[in-house]
Amino acid sequence: MAGKRGALIVLEGVDRAGKTTQCKKLVQALQQNGRPAEMMRFPDRSTTIGQLISSYLEKKSDLEDHTVHLLFSANRWELVPLMKKKLEQGINLVVDRYAFSGVAFTSAKPGFCLDWCKNPDVGLPKPDLVMFLKLSPTEASLRGQFGEERYETSVFQRAVQQKFEHLMKDASVNWQVIDASASIEDVHEDIATHSLNTVSTVENQPLGELWK
Ligand code: TMP
Repeated sequence: MAGKRGALIVLEGVDRAGKTTQCKKLVQALQQNGRPAEMMRFPDRSTTIGQLISSYLEKKSDLEDHTVHLLFSANRWELVPLMKKKLEQGINLVVDRYAFSGVAFTSAKPGFCLDWCKNPDVGLPKPDLVMFLKLSPTEASLRGQFGEERYETSVFQRAVQQKFEHLMKDASVNWQVIDASASIEDVHEDIATHSLNTVSTVENQPLGELWK
């Protein structure tokens, strides 16, 4: 690889924190700064594995808990060749959820430990920056009702939030906590500043491997 690589930037957070809106705005801002950028999201429901996950989330089918965890991970692995290709081409990837959602959601279920949940994702391309959009459960509830999908209850979301807090203690990952209660524009400014710094910092550095 002769040229500069793209950065792998992930947005995580509880439901209704504004991840998808902010991912889209970040892609536009990077492009306006002359930095090629594309958005991805996990789960990617367009693949065969993604369709199994989507049907599970929509409660059209049931899957055993370990099985669905491994499918979420497989859904990331199947996109790894494409992700690496784009990063090598100098495209910055802005990703809506990643392995951290995988671990936080499954480990919030009874009988799952963090280590077991992390294992299938060990070695994935390591994000250069993970921004956690933080919003209190009270503020989240003011943004409207939950949808109909699996996991969309306040009790479960609180458990997920605690698991995220635990994951954020891992200093091997470049976590930045973003106050998602601010206005869309203020949150965007914060995210764009962190992202532009990261893009410049990592362009000549090799891509890492997650949790390795
Ligand atoms: P979405 O609403 O962003 O499409 O996410 C779908 C749901 O899947 C959301 O409740 C979070 C959950 N999820 C997991 O349980 N494991 C994972 O690995 C990912 C990426 C999401």
